[in-house]
Amino acid sequence: MNQHQKPTEESRTEVMEFVLLGFSDVSHLHWFLFGLFLAIYIIILLGNGTILLITKVEPTLHTPMYYFLGNFSFLEICYVSFTLPRMLVNLGTQRRSISLVACATQMCFVLVLGAPECFLLAVMSYDHYVDICNTLNYSLLMNHKVCTQLVTGSWISGIPVQIGQTFQIFSLSFCASNQINHFFCDISPILNLACGEIFVNKMMVYIVAVLFVLVPFLLILISYSKIISTVLKLSSTTSRAKVFSTCSSHLAVVGLFFGPGIITYLRPKSSHSPDTEKVLSLFYTIVTPMLNPMIYSLRNKDVIMALENYYINNSFE
Ligand SMILES: *[C@@H]1O[C@H](CO)[C@@H](O)[C@H](O)[C@H]1NC(C)=O
Repeated sequence: MNQHQKPTEESRTEVMEFVLLGFSDVSHLHWFLFGLFLAIYIIILLGNGTILLITKVEPTLHTPMYYFLGNFSFLEICYVSFTLPRMLVNLGTQRRSISLVACATQMCFVLVLGAPECFLLAVMSYDHYVDICNTLNYSLLMNHKVCTQLVTGSWISGIPVQIGQTFQIFSLSFCASNQINHFFCDISPILNLACGEIFVNKMMVYIVAVLFVLVPFLLILISYSKIISTVLKLSSTTSRAKVFSTCSSHLAVVGLFFGPGIITYLRPKSSHSPDTEKVLSLFYTIVTPMLNPMIYSLRNKDVIMALENYYINNSFE
């Protein structure tokens, strides 16, 4: 067997280990970036942890919307914990190498957790839609069982596809270079290093992105177009204002998350540089998880009141 493989082994050296370049072009700033990202990680954990806790313990927030929001915050904590700590270690130690297995594991978790983020955002917009456009049947349509099924469905639907996708990508051989110009193992920086015919892989990535990113995004657009047409028919300006304030928080998160996500995973190939890609990916990996709790809590009277209740009840016990 070995004798037959010899010619190919001589012409290409297999990559055994990757190097995550990350911010190596600004390596003189690495302690500053380390501090910055550590602070961001702590903010993400505290902010999303608070939302998770408050939606669990406060009876006033036991509604579908806050159940979805709590679960989304939990998801964000998991998602971020697969990218940021590794980035911090790389920045802190200045050692950037990552084994193929670690890289594949990271990619797999990022993809498996990325899919439910998209689906949960779509579920949240559907919840707004039923609440506003089908108010009378709301408690019937959004009962406990349906909510649990929607969340569980969001979580598990991506698992088989994303594991398959990771397997497919890591069964390629890498011989071009082992330097990943990114700060975590995302799909396209890895595909750029693969050698041989990768057209089919690129197509698969594209199809999966359409299913898991574009379809939820279109569902959100449809929900919101129905919401807007219903709201415009409302006569009272106060009820209009209320609907807009609830929906604008969600829309802000949707824009921050899907905008860069769609540009990254669905743009025509090589239309921008790896550096643009790095900056864009910071949005869905770090900026959205950081801003999400702030967007929801600062602009939301229910959450603020629940936090005050919780604080008062616990400080007089
Ligand atoms: C979110 O939903 C998933 C799937 O149903 C579940 O496994 C997980 O425990 C939930 N997390 C929280 C914090 O509610």
